[in-house]
Amino acid sequence: MARYEQQRNFLKSNFLEFKHIKTDKAKGLPKPPAIKSYDPLSIIIDLPRIREDIVKKQSIYECIKGRRSTRLYSKESLTLSELSYLLWATQGITGTNKGGLMLRTVPCSGATHTFETYLLITRVEGIQQGVYRYLPVEHQLLFMHELNEMNNKIDAITLDQPFVPNFAKRAAVVFAWSTTPYRSEWKYDISAHKKILIDVGHVCQNLYLASESVDAGACAIGIYDQKLIDEVLGLDGVEEYVLYLGAVGKKQK
Ligand SMILES: Cc1cc2nc3c(=O)[nH]c(=O)nc-3n(C[C@H](O)[C@H](O)[C@H](O)COP(=O)(O)O)c2cc1C
Repeated sequence: MARYEQQRNFLKSNFLEFKHIKTDKAKGLPKPPAIKSYDPLSIIIDLPRIREDIVKKQSIYECIKGRRSTRLYSKESLTLSELSYLLWATQGITGTNKGGLMLRTVPCSGATHTFETYLLITRVEGIQQGVYRYLPVEHQLLFMHELNEMNNKIDAITLDQPFVPNFAKRAAVVFAWSTTPYRSEWKYDISAHKKILIDVGHVCQNLYLASESVDAGACAIGIYDQKLIDEVLGLDGVEEYVLYLGAVGKKQK
């Protein structure tokens, strides 16, 4: 049990302890940017406006009931409208609170939203294969770079998968959510990290349910090569690194 102790304690609430800590916010240190910046000269792709009629399965009951981790995909591409909808459903900005903090389609502790969404796109209509970043404020895609031998790279990133070997490389898109922990640490200090882990679960659940609603299937991926995915996305692995992946594709009939 001693071997687990530290990790088990990490899962507990340390809110009472936290109350006595002077956070960077309380110290008056500058608030980190809420969103990662980008070079405006990059190749930017407009995403279609979200229209409610993208949804094929309207009933939330049916989406929840029908949701399964889907690891077998057809060769069909996702449309750009479907991808746009999945991005919106997972990280789209839907308002601001009284304090001026951005609110999104997913809940997040203290509206700290520490995540960035990267995409390894294999099959989306009208989109070149490669690595992209979602720009939630603009609702646009930023093209980052091509990826040589994309399928093999995705395979290497997702290691030895226990249920369906090599399934991720057959997905239309692999989502990769990174975290920039300081966005939460600034406000929550040592209680940030547990919150970040809980927050990302909400994001992936929306990917599952939104995929289900457009006749696609998603599968969460916690088994991945940390160093390799961070390298592919150009992340430093300290201030920003990948936390979770999710594969999506049209379901096999
Ligand atoms: C945090 C987390 C990590 C997961 N990682 C993987 C993974 O790496 N590979 C995989 O095939 N499934 C993965 N899954 C999917 C689970 O295996 C799946 O949710 C579970 O078997 C229950 O099946 P269901 O989602 O169809 O209900 C993951 C799910 C979660 C929530």
